[in-house]
Order: sequence, then structure tokens, then C-alpha cells
Amino acid sequence: MASLGVNIDHIANVRQARQTVEPDPVTMALLAELGGADGITAHLREDRRHIQDRDLRLLKETVRSRLNLEMAATPEMVQIALEVSPDMVTLVPEKREEITTEGGLAISSSKLHLKEIIQKLKSAGIPVSLFVDPITEELEASSMIGATWVELHTGNYAEAKWSAQPLELAKIQEGTAKARSLGLRVNAGHGLTYQNVEPIASINGIEELNIGHTIIARSIAVGLKEAVREMKNLIQRPRKEPLFGKQSY
Ligand code: PXP
Repeated sequence: MASLGVNIDHIANVRQARQTVEPDPVTMALLAELGGADGITAHLREDRRHIQDRDLRLLKETVRSRLNLEMAATPEMVQIALEVSPDMVTLVPEKREEITTEGGLAISSSKLHLKEIIQKLKSAGIPVSLFVDPITEELEASSMIGATWVELHTGNYAEAKWSAQPLELAKIQEGTAKARSLGLRVNAGHGLTYQNVEPIASINGIEELNIGHTIIARSIAVGLKEAVREMKNLIQRPRKEPLFGKQSY
């Protein structure tokens, strides 16, 4: 059964829209944990558009579950990760002009660079996850350079029309099996919602789903603790039959 990592960047987005002190992602992380979050994810971006350095340092002190630092593979971020020492680091591609992370890392073309960073973090006791598309070549490269986890990019699945969704789901299923056969641990995330999460949550071998936007959006209506609880119930609901194909009509 997959666990739930809650991405709190979107709380910081609201705060930064007014350049003020509220809402505070650090205090909201506690509510997410009370609702059942198994981990808290924060992405410190190079342009500091949402999470700030201060948030990260306080989260390190206050998070009682697990702190997953999402970051670009740059010397500045590696230095910060070494100072803060989160429970894990997820390396993601980052472009200034993007609204959110747009796709997986191109690992096969930057193996040496990523390998060096993974080794540096690992030797400081910080395991590394690589955000990747479910493509065999990228999974093989991830395993080769020493990643502990991969986080499979579910964005294409989430954005696919209903008729294309089974194919995108099958890619995540196959990617999970391939990654596991390479000895990698598997997380997944991006674009998951209350409507589309269940087929992904039912894939054997995925350990954790990282979900942000939909939970924070739902929390405006029901509060963060309840929004997290609802998502956790969906992810961990006992299933009698595979949900694959549920939406065909
Ligand atoms: N995983 C990664 C690597 C991400 O970059 C993001 C977005 O910040 C998420 C998961 C969560 O995506 P969403 O906000 O669409 O749930």
C-alpha cells in the first residue's frame, strides 16, 4: 500500500503572492501530518518563487514524518542539502520559465554529473531519488549511477484524455516493474488528483505518492488536515478488483 508525501510548495505560493508571512508552510506541514501525511515534500527553487531557505531550515526541525527536499542538481542546492540534511533528496529538472516541473530528468545524458551529486549526498547519509519518466533507458541509467529511488513522473497519465489514460497507466506499471527489477525503490507523482489517483495507488511496488496541488486546492474547502485524510483514504482503500479501465464507457 502506497504512503502519501504531501507537497507544501503551493502553500508557500499563496504567501509569496503577497510577500507576507501567511499562510506559513511550516505550520501547515504539521496539519498535513495530523491528517496522515507520511512525508512532507518541499521544492527549494533556484528563483525562490515559493519555498524559502527559512522554510526548509524550520521544516527540518519541525517535521516529524520525513522531509523530502526536491531540488535541481546544482552546486548551490547540493550545498544547502548538505547543511540542512533532509531525510531524502529528490532531484528534478528545473527551468525558470516553467509553471511547475515539466518532465523527468534526462539522466542518460548527464550520468557523470548526477552520479557525483548522488555520491556526495549519499556519503552524507542522504539517499537520493531521481524524478524520471517511466522509460527503460532512464531507469537503467538511474540504477547505474546509484540512485536509491526513482520517482516516476505521472504527469502524462494525469493529463491524458480518458481514451489514452490506460496506455499511460500501463507505462507507469511497466516502469515500476522495471525499476524494481533493477533494484530501485519506486515513488511516483505529479498531476495526481482525487479523481485519478486510485489506479496509480493500486500499482504494486510503488512505495509513496507525492501529491501537492490537488490537496492544497481541496484544503481551501475542507481544511488541510481533512484534505490529507481524504487523499490517504483514497490511496489506501482496500480494492477488490484492479481499477484499470474503470473510466471506459
Ligand atoms: N513530484 C515532483 C517531482 C514534483 O515536482 C511535483 C510538483 O511540485 C509533485 C510531485 C507534485 O505535483 P502536484 O502538485 O501536481 O501534485
